[in-house]
Amino acid sequence: DMGGHDTYMHKEIHEQADAVDRVLRGRIDDRFSTVHLGGLNLDAREARRIRRVKILGCGTSYHAGMIGAQMIEELARIPADAEPASEFRYRNAVVDPDTLYIAVSQSGETYDVLAAVQELKRKGARVLGVVNVVGSAIAREADGGIYVHAGPEVCVVSTKCFTNTTVAFALLALHLGRTRDLSVRDGKRIIEGLRKLPAQISEILKQEELVRELAEEYAESRSMLFIGRVRGYPVAREASLKLKEITYIHAEAYPASELKHGPLALIEPALPTVAIVPDDDLLEKNRAALEEIKARSGKILAVAHQEQEKADRTIVVPKNEDELDPILMGIPLQLLAYHAAKVLGRDIDKPRNLAKSVTVE
Ligand code: M6R
Repeated sequence: DMGGHDTYMHKEIHEQADAVDRVLRGRIDDRFSTVHLGGLNLDAREARRIRRVKILGCGTSYHAGMIGAQMIEELARIPADAEPASEFRYRNAVVDPDTLYIAVSQSGETYDVLAAVQELKRKGARVLGVVNVVGSAIAREADGGIYVHAGPEVCVVSTKCFTNTTVAFALLALHLGRTRDLSVRDGKRIIEGLRKLPAQISEILKQEELVRELAEEYAESRSMLFIGRVRGYPVAREASLKLKEITYIHAEAYPASELKHGPLALIEPALPTVAIVPDDDLLEKNRAALEEIKARSGKILAVAHQEQEKADRTIVVPKNEDELDPILMGIPLQLLAYHAAKVLGRDIDKPRNLAKSVTVE
């Protein structure tokens, strides 16, 4: 039942405020400015012994994991990174007992992720799952974890589950942080930010008409470049994946900091750039990147917390705490991909050549 929406994708995009409400529900502990994650199976002493965090997932879940790794590193000050599970399982990676491994999956059935989990467990590692589907193979195989409670996701491309997964990682980062060295004050700040998310998502979705108009313009592109720096980079990657999956427009994501090391050569009026420009300590650096693109007659669409002078158009999104901004900044770009695919007459819920979950090798 699509409840009045023309596709599941559209329905699921619009379910995100409620979905985020669900992932937060019952987990916030105001007394200690932390969160409770019942299924983690990780006591405080164990949490304090973690020396590294390694996050494994595929596709959109990998991108959510990239955001999660940054949050864990920022809030818990534990070195963390994300890697495609599909790569990890084939490279005879060093499995280290002081590393916490986290498998991320919407379906909980993706074979590359499951195989990585099994290999890790065989070698004695501790593996947590950040999973949507309750009781799925990865959830069962993991030592514990967090359910992301996005609800059933039908469209092949993930939207609400991506968003909820990034929120689940914020909860985990806050929990690990408060078990270690994150201050009460920062804990409170993050909790306040988390509580604002559902209303801010609704606010973003109100701009759908503006995004639809932009999509009409961008649907004619042969190729698009997505850029972002640090927190903005995984957002750019996910937006680029979403666009190519459902419109079949070629899209590439680059760290904004890498522009001058190569992709600047591509800039010309026919290659539009979508830039993620959060209002954080890297704002000036990002503005300089926009200037570089503009100087080469590149067309720019910015997703930012304030109108960007160098951009042709800006989609303004509400500001949250710096660490949580990536949760919100990609949401208008889900709508951009959706409306561009609509203009092009694509089969949005079932893009060619793709399956919702890849359960084979
Ligand atoms: O169910 P999973 O999260 O493990 O799936 C992983 C990827 O296959 C999935 O995210 C894929 O990239 C989707 N088509 C995303 O839109």
